[in-house]
Amino acid sequence: MQLLKTDDGSLTLFDPLHQESYHSKFGARSESDQVYLRNSGVHQRLSSQTDTSILEIGFGTGFNFVQTACHALANHCTLHYTACENFPVSGHTALQVLSHNVPGADKLCRFTADTLDQISSGEQFVSNSFDDLITLNLQRVDAACHTWLDDTFDAIYLDAFSTKNNPTLWQADFLKKLQSAARPDAILATYCVNGKFRSALSEAGFEYRKLPGPAGKREVLIATPAPGLA
Ligand SMILES: C[S@@+](CC[C@H](N)C(=O)[O-])C[C@H]1O[C@@H](n2cnc3c(N)ncnc32)[C@H](O)[C@@H]1O
Repeated sequence: MQLLKTDDGSLTLFDPLHQESYHSKFGARSESDQVYLRNSGVHQRLSSQTDTSILEIGFGTGFNFVQTACHALANHCTLHYTACENFPVSGHTALQVLSHNVPGADKLCRFTADTLDQISSGEQFVSNSFDDLITLNLQRVDAACHTWLDDTFDAIYLDAFSTKNNPTLWQADFLKKLQSAARPDAILATYCVNGKFRSALSEAGFEYRKLPGPAGKREVLIATPAPGLA
């Protein structure tokens, strides 16, 4: 795994095996902030102190988690964050990215790295709490083979690798599981706008809308459960 500096000065990882970076090379921080935290409605929910439950597909470095948790802490708001990851990076590797990208959050970055180390060293499900407000449930599973309780999440961050490297995570069978796990007003946020993925979203019972992307990406997407199907 290689460290990669992105255009907004923040770091991400580059996976030489898949030839793919963990965030946009045009800006890891701007992607995390705009595509996930804001487009999902989570920024607004936490700003208005609404307790929030998130599912992330592809925990990676934990950067999306740390950005979201910082916002929850700043607003004294409860956050339940469930994430799955089948090939966890070490806490040490994640910490190199996190401590550079979120310099004022040393304890939270360390907490995230320690949680990653727990699943890297063999535990399959870990649930850790930070500061009484944040719960991180990290699952070492292949998301495609996992199911979550129905009607559980207010937001879903769909941040798997590309359709080329992670095809099953963009197909209707998997998206139907996310649709069931989503609350009726939940928002799924992702960077992917590819046509086959959009058809799969419709087949799985989501309605989607394209939004302007961050630097380097013309469009991204949000989806919500179609009324009557949630
Ligand atoms: C684009 S990166 C995620 C970046 C991450 N959200 C972050 O903030 O660092 C994609 C992640 O999905 C994980 N992944 C790929 N296939 C998966 C699967 N079937 N189940 C769970 N995680 C998967 C990869 O190991 C990788 O960590």
